[in-house]
Amino acid sequence: MPPVSAESDDRSVTPTPAPPAADLLERLVSLGKQRGFFYPSSEIYGGINALYDYGPLGTRLRRNIRHRWWRSVVELRDDVEGIETSIIMNPQVWVASGHVAGFSDPLVDCTGACRRRWRADHLGAERTARGKDADAPGCPECGGELTAPRQFNLMFRTFLGPVEDSSAQVYLRPETAQGMFVDFKSVLTSSRQRIPFGIAQNGKSFRNEISPGNSIFRTREFEQMEMEFFCEPGTDDHWFDHWRAERFRWYVEELGVRRAYLRLRNHEKDELAHYAKAATDVEYLYPFGWGELEGIANRTDFDLSAHQRASGVDLSYLDPATGRSYIPYVIEPAAGVDRILLTVLMDAYDEETVRGEKRTVLRMHPDVAPVQVAVLPLSKREELTVPSRQLEHRLRPHFATDYDETQSIGRRYRRQDEIGTPLAVTFDFDSLQDDAVTIRERDGMTQVRVPIDGLEDAVRDQLILFRKRTAERAGAGA
Ligand code: GAP
Repeated sequence: MPPVSAESDDRSVTPTPAPPAADLLERLVSLGKQRGFFYPSSEIYGGINALYDYGPLGTRLRRNIRHRWWRSVVELRDDVEGIETSIIMNPQVWVASGHVAGFSDPLVDCTGACRRRWRADHLGAERTARGKDADAPGCPECGGELTAPRQFNLMFRTFLGPVEDSSAQVYLRPETAQGMFVDFKSVLTSSRQRIPFGIAQNGKSFRNEISPGNSIFRTREFEQMEMEFFCEPGTDDHWFDHWRAERFRWYVEELGVRRAYLRLRNHEKDELAHYAKAATDVEYLYPFGWGELEGIANRTDFDLSAHQRASGVDLSYLDPATGRSYIPYVIEPAAGVDRILLTVLMDAYDEETVRGEKRTVLRMHPDVAPVQVAVLPLSKREELTVPSRQLEHRLRPHFATDYDETQSIGRRYRRQDEIGTPLAVTFDFDSLQDDAVTIRERDGMTQVRVPIDGLEDAVRDQLILFRKRTAERAGAGA
């Protein structure tokens, strides 16, 4: 087994940085709507609570995040297989997994003026967020009296087929994980994998959250990227350490999130989910405090044992080398695309003054940025726009591109800065004479003149430099 360099527990190694500005989330929500990253769903009908749509740039960004996760967790490894399972599963799955009986949060109602509903275990944080004492009695909003807590199951229910009775009741999955547990035997027999190996998938999950909020941080429909890594009992601590370190690394090195704003936080014993032997969260320092970005859990043999008992199907593994049979233990890194998108935007967001004007810039990693290179003719004159369009078409097979000829060149640079585009190629009147264009980079706004002939290579070289600078900013390798 390879040695593991586990990222040690957070607070001891990384001094806590200054938290982001309190209004950063509001600024991002505004930018998200204005520039088409994300905005409330069904907005022309007034929206719908805690459900969001992603516009053209948000969709590109999500695809990039998903792609980088899939590359890292599935494609670049020999020991992980990717699958896709259905959102609606046999309801017995959720009985066996414990979700029907126990996937609930304590709910309290305000009986005072505001009549709001709260998660009983979030009351302290809600009071603090409103500038009140965390232990003050009553409703965080209006101080009114609260009801006693009652358990509220978070799974959405619907009916399969035309008859709406209890025998047809099914659930929208609240996690993608169970699809991978129930398919364990099938993947094992259809692939050439031997333990240790993992099964990964990403897709939508649904939770009827009592107190969603902080924009897309906690919503009722969201997308997860989860991996179940099956290993021999006794090796589980090793693999737990491996995946903690590996997932932390991914955020810094592959997404460019600043290390100083990330930490690993181990769950206390009384915080652990009923199925977990150990759990660590990768947390980010949001304007509303440290929050979970991804959870890594040692789920032991809880799920496979439960499904074996309930289905009557043998889910044990026979080790061909030793002849030993056992139910594998599972290490699970579980992340959310929406939360990562919010974090990437937040971490990249910067404002500075340039020549007396405010410049908003997203200092995003060039491999997640929705647009990698924009092609901009200096003016709208046809002698510039026609070759510029041709250039953009030439670059399109190799990079994520955009073409923009509206407004002044300065305004267009600012627009690209605001959506995090690392490079802008400008075709000007000189280009007609010298067959060269200017490449302007987002962060330092420096420019280089390069021949049109080798433009693809020049852009590629500039992106390599960009990746290095992003890694330095994130504190990669520190
Ligand atoms: N299978 C384990 C599991 O689902 P979780 O900690 O409940 O664990 C994993 O969820 C990740 O999914 C979280 O770290 C978060 O990124 C994302 N997530 C969970 N609930 C969410 C919600 N209501 N809205 C947005 N993302 C959510």
